[in-house]
Amino acid sequence: MNETRWWWPVAAEGEVADAPLAVELLGDPLVLWRDGGGAPVLFADRCPHRGARLSMGRVEGGTLRCAYHGWRFDGGGRCIAVPSAPGFEPPASCAARALSVQVAHGMVWAGFDGAEAGPPVLDGLAQRRLVYGPFDVETSAPRAVENFLDTSHFAFVHEGWLGDAAHPEVPAHEVTATADGRPVIERYPAWQPRASAAAAGGDWVDYRYEVLSPFAALLTKQGRGGGPEDSYVIWACPAAPERCRLWFAQYTSDLVTPDDTLRDFQVAIFAQDRPVLESQRPRRLPLASPGEGGEAMCAADRLSAAYRRYLRSCGITFGVC
Ligand code: FES
Ligand SMILES: [Fe+2]
Repeated sequence: MNETRWWWPVAAEGEVADAPLAVELLGDPLVLWRDGGGAPVLFADRCPHRGARLSMGRVEGGTLRCAYHGWRFDGGGRCIAVPSAPGFEPPASCAARALSVQVAHGMVWAGFDGAEAGPPVLDGLAQRRLVYGPFDVETSAPRAVENFLDTSHFAFVHEGWLGDAAHPEVPAHEVTATADGRPVIERYPAWQPRASAAAAGGDWVDYRYEVLSPFAALLTKQGRGGGPEDSYVIWACPAAPERCRLWFAQYTSDLVTPDDTLRDFQVAIFAQDRPVLESQRPRRLPLASPGEGGEAMCAADRLSAAYRRYLRSCGITFGVC
């Protein structure tokens, strides 16, 4: 599977506490826990002994103990104790399957054997970071990311917030690409009735969009009235082909508005998106062009079209059709 080239977000750092956390990535159940040093550890959620879910177990003294027969595993996956056979030295075949883990941007990332580089790089964003989620959504990860890249729904889904029903037209804009082929819009002007939680009224806002990886994207908004600079990132975990787990990170130069106010705004925006997202059929994102039988496109959909071409060029097969 080509998807194993990328690192994937599986949890926000704060979600991993004392108990093992069951997560799902690319259709595989995984278990996330913290070893004795507090570092996140990720295993296949399947005990090598009899296949019980390790997420039903307990973290004890920096090891994970299976709920079924009590075998214990260290952070590398090695089996270090078999209670039913105290003299038994567990061989390598008794090990749990461990994935590589990195922590970046307040998220825990999973890497498969042969994964390239690391999680996406974020440069030059405002310092204050908030992470919202997780949101479990009944659609594919790429449908959710494409919605994040789509502005022509603002006047309908986010009327009075991000869009104005009197101005549904999408302004002229150009889609370019990074050196490694990720779609970008450097400048996209939009009138917003209420661009952020801190906004007192409407403002012209310049958007910049960048696709960060197959299922992640960045949006930076700069109000022309000199308001705060806000960047938003969507991190989508492809849990199953037609189900995803999302987080939205906000990086803002607004140091005044309380966390809860910022969070409530983003939660309200996503509550507007969710019913439409979950209504889309097929749930998998069609990658064929309109001429090949894919979904209809118009001039306002340039970024969506570029995103689909990018997924094709990456060889993505999960969550698409
Ligand atoms: S199934 Fe895990 S210890 Fe037996
Ligand atoms: Fe939306």
